[in-house]
Amino acid sequence: MKIAILTVSDKGSQGLREDASGPVIKEIFTDRGDEVVFYEVIPDEKEVISEKLRELADNERADLLVTTGGTGFAPRDVTPEATGEVIDREVPGLGEKMRAETAKYTELAYLSRAKAGLRHQSLILNLPGSPKAVRECLATVIDIIPHGISVLQGEITEH
Ligand code: MTE
Repeated sequence: MKIAILTVSDKGSQGLREDASGPVIKEIFTDRGDEVVFYEVIPDEKEVISEKLRELADNERADLLVTTGGTGFAPRDVTPEATGEVIDREVPGLGEKMRAETAKYTELAYLSRAKAGLRHQSLILNLPGSPKAVRECLATVIDIIPHGISVLQGEITEH
């Protein structure tokens, strides 16, 4: 899979905080043999997030667009809303699985409003912002994503 990573963080985008979560996502996919083709740290601005997701999906730059951060309750947490604006079809099961299966580590998992959905040939997946949450959440969905993307892209038609 070709992977694009978007870290959504006001402080990160201003250079006031080092992004720890983007590199964790990169490491996890690279270790699996996937190719990380894009990585950027952007602010918690709905239009900036949605425009970047559109551009990446519409130009088929990646099969999977992973965001980290901005899924909580803080006033500027708008990543799920930006995602909702650009997806054609929602994939609620990925957020459900991440929350249900990682609540064993912390019940705060249920405070993440992370969304997932499809736009054209790409899957967009929100993850919470901390490196710990990224590791916990990705582990619950990473093995089922390639099958979904193959079906999305028409490589698998029979089950
Ligand atoms: N999910 C898992 N698996 N592990 C975590 O530590 N942290 C939670 C939650 N999801 C967490 C988690 C916390 S503390 C918050 S505030 C929300 O994700 C939202 O995080 P975000 O705003 O950085 O996206």
